[in-house]
Amino acid sequence: MFKNIKLRALWFILVVMSIIIVALFALIFPGLNKSVEQEQSPYYNEPFRPQYHFTPEANWMNDPNGMVYYEGEYHLFYQYHPYGTRWGPMHWGHAVSKDLVHWEHLPVALQPDEHGYIFSGSAVVDWNNTSGLGTDPKHPPLVAIFTHSKDKQIQSIAYSNDKGRTWEKYAGNPIMPNPPNVDWRDPKVFWHEETRQWVMILAAGEKAMLYTSSNLKDWTYVSEFGKPNGAPDGVWECPDLFSLPVDGDPNKKKWVLAVSINNGSIAGGSGMQYFVGNFDGKTFTNDNPANTTLWADYGADFYAGVTWSDDPNHKSSRLWLAWMSNWQYANDTPTSTWRSAFSLVRKIELKTLPEGIRMVQTPVPQLKQLRHLTKSISDQLVQPGINQLDDINGETLEIVAEFQVDQSTTADEFGFKVRKGERNETIVGFGRQNGTLFVDRTRSGISDFHGDFAKRHEAPLTVQNNKVTMHIFVDRSSVEVFGNEGERVITDQIFPDASATGLELYTAGGNVTLNSLHIYSLDKVWKK
Ligand code: FRU
Repeated sequence: MFKNIKLRALWFILVVMSIIIVALFALIFPGLNKSVEQEQSPYYNEPFRPQYHFTPEANWMNDPNGMVYYEGEYHLFYQYHPYGTRWGPMHWGHAVSKDLVHWEHLPVALQPDEHGYIFSGSAVVDWNNTSGLGTDPKHPPLVAIFTHSKDKQIQSIAYSNDKGRTWEKYAGNPIMPNPPNVDWRDPKVFWHEETRQWVMILAAGEKAMLYTSSNLKDWTYVSEFGKPNGAPDGVWECPDLFSLPVDGDPNKKKWVLAVSINNGSIAGGSGMQYFVGNFDGKTFTNDNPANTTLWADYGADFYAGVTWSDDPNHKSSRLWLAWMSNWQYANDTPTSTWRSAFSLVRKIELKTLPEGIRMVQTPVPQLKQLRHLTKSISDQLVQPGINQLDDINGETLEIVAEFQVDQSTTADEFGFKVRKGERNETIVGFGRQNGTLFVDRTRSGISDFHGDFAKRHEAPLTVQNNKVTMHIFVDRSSVEVFGNEGERVITDQIFPDASATGLELYTAGGNVTLNSLHIYSLDKVWKK
């Protein structure tokens, strides 16, 4: 071979050059190998498995619990059945995050015991070791306050002195052994600085009950708040109570009482409402007439949302997330090895809108790290029958759009069709006639597991300064829509065909101008 010396030299040069080219390619495009690897990895890649929302590795999850920030980590505990994909003996699953986007799974934190299952509850940093459960003056203990449920519902506590890695149940449990009500659960505790005491709010049937304590162990009943305030139906669950500045003004503070109700929510089944008012350390008073109902989310899949405690990074807002399901069908959704996801982490603020002081929610900015810009459009007329996005495919998308809605607008309806395929589409739109933002999941995919799933969910939305904005997150089996910078939110699960990855920008009945549009594909956050 290669008797000819010139040929041999040529061959050598060719081989060396190929090696250099391959090496350069790998250096310049390191992501290519990785994304192929990621796509092929079966980890977090089952049908419908969310790619950037929180889900447990396996099995059943419902409410978020014990949300607390401690020494650089956001803790997220959750109602968890480690041995099945349906609701069962409740444990507290556990994960932590530094950026509210990537989560590290940790071992189960709390297991059922002789007092019963571990139902929902909260966690706080006991800064001054009021409980006496701390062991290291430099690192105060974390204390979890939760419901034990067996033949009755009672309240108990557990503590951790190692950054939440291991938990000890308090020897004196239950700390509140005498239920005044059959339903008596989901304690949310916070430190009330003005009266220098701990306050607990918990759900008791059709109301919330409030207690105070100096040491997290001995609690005194102080007041209650409930129906006829708010939505008329349903049992109250998972309440939360926190203060926020109005319009960012630290001198104008209001209190928000948020509560989940099951059933009777705006989109059917379970959902969340909130009240705006005042709290003096003992009693919450509602600013609005009792029959005013304020919905935290107008979709069917936003439940048991509670806010993070002790978060130094958000002094004039609160962060929360919620269980992205509905008790109507939570046990029957068509996922395989796990069941249920949490919503994105949202920032809550209070703003003065024309109708009054309202909660405004926006996705946390940390999510921007997942973006890959796919398409930008500005100042375009959108006409019926022409899809300007027919070159885009995706099942993990973020869509940021601003429409001009004025005298020149002739469209009755406009928006996006996401997860569009031969048989499916989920419509996210604005109806001009009645001023509604909506998600229509009547043709979104599998829905036969519950008769009420295939529905359209609407939220009132006012055109402001001739504009309507939509901020949409699609993650395989969910759609979250923030209308007009978070004034209205709709959160819905969907279960489309795997092949339904199309996207359409649509208008019906006439034209509308699209001021700006940015479409991003979003990265997967789950790696082994
Ligand atoms: C809300 C809820 C809570 C209870 C928990 C049980 O979804 O019913 O009231 O503590 O779930 O898993």
